[in-house]
Amino acid sequence: MKILTLSSFLLLLPLAVCEPQVYIINLGEHSGDKTSKEIEDSHHSFLASVKNTADEARASLLYSYKNSINGFSALLTPDEASILSRMDEVVSVLPSRPRTWSLHTTRSWEFAGLEDGYLDKRRDLLHESKYGKDIIVGLLDSGIWPESKSFSDKGLGPIPKRWKGICQTGDAFNSSHCNRKMIGARYYLKGYEQHFHQQLNTTAEFRSPRDHDGHGTHTSSTVGGRRVHNVSALGGFAQGTASGGAPLARLAMYKVCWPIPGKPLIEGDICLEEDMLAAIDDAIGDGVDVISISIGSRDISNYMEDYIAIGALHAIKRNIVVACSAGNSGPAPATASNLAPWIITVAASSVDRVFISPIVLGNGKKIMGQSVAPHTLERKMYPLAYAGDVVGPGVPKDLSGQCLPGSLSTEKTKGKIVLCLRGNGTRVGKGMEVHRAGGVGIILGNSPMNGDEISVDAYVLPGTVVVSHDAITIMNYINSIKNPKASIIPATTILDAKPAPFMAAFSSKGPNVIEPNILKPDITAPGLNILAAWSEASSPTKLDSDPRVVKYNLLSGTSMSCPHIAATAALLKAIHPNWSSAAIRSAIMTTATIKNNIGMPLTDASGNKANPFSYGAGHFRPTKAADPGLVYDASYTDYLLFLCSTGIYNFDPSFKCPKVSPSPSSLNHPSLAISKLKGPMTITRIVTNVGGSRNLYVATVKSPLGVSVEINPRMLYFSHVGETKNFTITVKPKGMVSREDYRFGWYTWSDGIHKVRSPMAISLL
Ligand SMILES: *[C@@H]1O[C@H](CO)[C@@H](O)[C@H](O)[C@H]1NC(C)=O
Ligand SMILES: *[C@@H]1O[C@H](CO)[C@@H](O)[C@H](O)[C@H]1NC(C)=O
Ligand SMILES: *[C@@H]1O[C@H](CO)[C@@H](O)[C@H](O)[C@H]1NC(C)=O
Ligand SMILES: *[C@@H]1O[C@H](CO)[C@@H](O)[C@H](O)[C@H]1NC(C)=O
Ligand SMILES: *[C@@H]1O[C@H](CO)[C@@H](O)[C@H](O)[C@H]1NC(C)=O
Ligand SMILES: *[C@@H]1O[C@H](CO)[C@@H](O)[C@H](O)[C@H]1NC(C)=O
Repeated sequence: MKILTLSSFLLLLPLAVCEPQVYIINLGEHSGDKTSKEIEDSHHSFLASVKNTADEARASLLYSYKNSINGFSALLTPDEASILSRMDEVVSVLPSRPRTWSLHTTRSWEFAGLEDGYLDKRRDLLHESKYGKDIIVGLLDSGIWPESKSFSDKGLGPIPKRWKGICQTGDAFNSSHCNRKMIGARYYLKGYEQHFHQQLNTTAEFRSPRDHDGHGTHTSSTVGGRRVHNVSALGGFAQGTASGGAPLARLAMYKVCWPIPGKPLIEGDICLEEDMLAAIDDAIGDGVDVISISIGSRDISNYMEDYIAIGALHAIKRNIVVACSAGNSGPAPATASNLAPWIITVAASSVDRVFISPIVLGNGKKIMGQSVAPHTLERKMYPLAYAGDVVGPGVPKDLSGQCLPGSLSTEKTKGKIVLCLRGNGTRVGKGMEVHRAGGVGIILGNSPMNGDEISVDAYVLPGTVVVSHDAITIMNYINSIKNPKASIIPATTILDAKPAPFMAAFSSKGPNVIEPNILKPDITAPGLNILAAWSEASSPTKLDSDPRVVKYNLLSGTSMSCPHIAATAALLKAIHPNWSSAAIRSAIMTTATIKNNIGMPLTDASGNKANPFSYGAGHFRPTKAADPGLVYDASYTDYLLFLCSTGIYNFDPSFKCPKVSPSPSSLNHPSLAISKLKGPMTITRIVTNVGGSRNLYVATVKSPLGVSVEINPRMLYFSHVGETKNFTITVKPKGMVSREDYRFGWYTWSDGIHKVRSPMAISLL
């Protein structure tokens, strides 16, 4: 036995050294004069130059990117990759790395107005934009559940003629599953199967655009789901009319994320770069107007290693708006992903709807909790226990309160309500563990890090979630008495909760780790407890042991906030078909609010004042974004110039960087970030009038602490729509201040009607 292991190890070793792996070969832009066949032939000839035979070259090719991105992915040895990387026409040759997505409605849309009478205004916006009519939104995600009522095409007109996409057939999916709402669907798994050296396991996943997971169905319906009346999550919570942000937009699904072999669904999916690049390339070729990507990776240190960013810049060149999730790695700083300035990077915040399900302790004390779990408890007191007191043998002390799978003793848990703490393990998994051990209910306590942010989930048993200081109160009660008891009161849905929004603790934060002179994230939108459509192939908890099937589900994450911004972009495109993607981003950012619904500054989940590293320009206001007054526009060339300033000279071989590159801060962006300011610095910005004629705009400034900011001129007069004006921002360090931290401020242009606000983040050297 031993010898066998050893010899197989020896056998594997030389293979591992030169084993081919997938590389992505970037050749920049297409010249535009080649047919699809000629492009593929040219990619083959690159491969033929490093492979022994033409057949070998052909067999090694995974994808030939033909629509917009010029390049291909192929199986290469490191030596072959190195030869290719030295060829003249080659921009870059990088090994593909897997990305795990950043797992990463009803109320969320009504809430998006935030102001007095906003409901009527929102209707105006929908009306004016014809509900996003005929705008095509492509999503890179886990697929789609086409039977959901949210994707009905009843009453929709014919598919826009410019659409060139397809409805790719596969498991439980054929061309009749697309319709006039979901007009296209494709799937990509060549990179995935190569990465795992195995075929997709079709027992638990569809080899087709059909969504097994539920995530893609959720995000798609958040962008463009139809209005569906009387829907609710399990047990009647959040009942109401479900509608996507742009209910008459068309959707196209590009399925790029798949389960990790051998791991349970709840541990997330994996999405390979070469698959995603193929999807973006197809989406561009198919004719989408907006791309929504709730996927991200944090281990990227350069824009040219980031294939979402590379694909997105090709999309921007064709005026396609790209929105991406910032990630769920907060609240630590420098955790945001999708950091390219041409991408709209979306953080997540709460909505003003809560599901109140209080707890009454044996001593009569009532504690607020929130829940959407099914309620089957009787109205009586049940024995209450802290999970750490009812664990089985061998559970380490630091994990004992966490209800990790298999940790609870059935003998000690049976018949009790159990207090579990957040930390390791999934929230729904903890509910499953209490259920397995015979508990009757779960109280899930936030850790101090989660603060006051409550994510409700469809637990398999009755339960409620409490904030961290309430978890401590319950713990103290349990420790103070011999026979602790509690009852859980069934949940009621409460609207207009205050304060809202606040930033979700999980939402990833700036500063931007690739280019600190670009502020990220850009904007925040609802991402906590969002109700949207779900796959009927998985349970609402995604746990294999949960047999329930639901049509709608509540989920939290920046994955949920990103489609809110994609939908807003679709509405704006419908109203302003000629706006560039930078103009649309600018409109969304400069009209955002930094106040909550009690008129106070936005806070984090613990009630502390939040800053632009968590919310970017602020909380989105779609109605205001339709009429921003001024926009900060930027072209594809401006982004190439920006890349020059970060040391990337060859993104587009047809573009030559100037001898002296501008500073990265000088990209005409609707926000301003300056890292390590040494002395005075002057930056030019250009605003374009998209409001009325004969408008006088006046600047106001809130300077960051320890920095003086001067805007020059302080007034701008516009005589007509489309007119552009320059102004300069001069920033200077002043006085004696501690140096490390970033400080925040803003500048606003206002004509009395429009307020065009830009956040600033500055650190001193
Ligand atoms: C597609 O599949 C459905 C069953 O899911 C079937 O009823 C229908 O006939 C098929 N359509 C085509 C065009 O194959
Ligand atoms: C495929 O998935 C099923 C269900 O998850 C599992 O039971 C089976 O072992 C998997 N097969 C392989 C070859 O991994
Ligand atoms: C809404 O759905 C619930 C159960 O799902 C049902 O009892 C109720 O009658 C429905 N209401 C309307 C107006 O259809
Ligand atoms: C998770 O478990 C590991 C190992 O026991 C521990 O180091 C870590 O602190 C735990 N994390 C949380 C959030 O409890
Ligand atoms: C949009 O651009 C097209 C072509 O550039 C032009 O014909 C059209 O008039 C423009 N529409 C508006 C509303 O400016
Ligand atoms: C405005 O700024 C741009 C770019 O910095 C520059 O090319 C242009 O000449 C400026 N226009 C005016 C009127 O200053």
